[in-house]
Amino acid sequence: MAEKAASTARGVAGSARPAPEAYRAVAAEAERFLLDGETPVDGDRRSRLAAARAEIDATGGYLQTAAELAHGCKLAWRNHARCVGRLHWKALRVVDRRDAVSAEDVFAACVEHLRLATNGGRLQPVITVFAPRGADGSAIRIWNPQLVRYAGYTRTDGSVVGDPLHVGITAAAQALGWRGSGGPFDVLPLIVRLPGEAPRWFELPADAVLEVELVHPEFTWFAGLGLRWHAVPAISDMLLEIGGVEYPAAPFNGWYVGYEIGARNLADTDRYDLLPRIGARLGLDMSREDSLWKDLALVELNRAVLHSFHRAGAHIVDHHTVTRQFVTHEERELRRGRATPTDRDWIVPPLSPSTTPVFHRGYTNTPVRPNFHRQEPAWK
Ligand code: ARG
Repeated sequence: MAEKAASTARGVAGSARPAPEAYRAVAAEAERFLLDGETPVDGDRRSRLAAARAEIDATGGYLQTAAELAHGCKLAWRNHARCVGRLHWKALRVVDRRDAVSAEDVFAACVEHLRLATNGGRLQPVITVFAPRGADGSAIRIWNPQLVRYAGYTRTDGSVVGDPLHVGITAAAQALGWRGSGGPFDVLPLIVRLPGEAPRWFELPADAVLEVELVHPEFTWFAGLGLRWHAVPAISDMLLEIGGVEYPAAPFNGWYVGYEIGARNLADTDRYDLLPRIGARLGLDMSREDSLWKDLALVELNRAVLHSFHRAGAHIVDHHTVTRQFVTHEERELRRGRATPTDRDWIVPPLSPSTTPVFHRGYTNTPVRPNFHRQEPAWK
């Protein structure tokens, strides 16, 4: 068992060798990572690097220790310019599942991830790391963009039931034989593909997916809209890169900021597009833009999201609190002599931006590694 785990952790099976050119890039990144004084290395740093180098020369990659991996995951979070929740980077729970060798193993670990992350509503930041990319480029992939996502079904007239963002992955699931109920909030199955195998889909157990029904603190009619959202945002399609090693399957989560749901997922015109319905129920003057009916509807929707999560005991944060925490993080990092690479477009909230401190600050974004990177959707 231990022997098997060790060999899969070096990379998923494969024998074809890329040009040594690629090996040099891996070695250069390994050197930067392993010689960095922050990286926890067993014993002497130089001998650790020499061992990794020898392994890279022979196989194109190297097996990171559990401590190196855990530290690398935290750094990838700390370095990720688009995340406003980075104050908590040290609290990340790292689950090392490089030993998972079957689609069933990967699925079971993802269910375990959701339970650990949900933690009865007291959400915890968690990352589950599966085997790295093999020297031949082979990779474990989770097809879903997040562990929990709602299906989007295209009607014959072109309109969509559910989340229009997920029409593509929904069609991919259906092509594999999955059948959803056709409702607006159907949780998609998890689709997992191991190298050399056909993709497989698995229905998530309902008790592993915490969902919050949306109600409004004052308007009783709001509950009648039948809205809900899942509590855990767990990104499952990004590539984690640590010290030259690529982990194409490494789902991770924090917790939601209210606006992600209230000002984007449920409000964007190319998502659930709910502002017209809410504006009408509020009796607003929707015949003219300058009545600010969209703004008023947006605020009530966001109040409902925050209120409902609190009422359900599911952790969530508002945009005022999270941006204040982000500034605390920046200042703390600066005291340690580190810059905070920041993508301003992603850090400034979509709701009432100028009322938050980040709107008024200047930001630079010099990419740093380890990091999380976008990769091509595996189902395309
Ligand atoms: N914006 C995405 C969503 O609405 C989630 C992105 C990650 N968010 C987070 N709070 N960790 O599903």
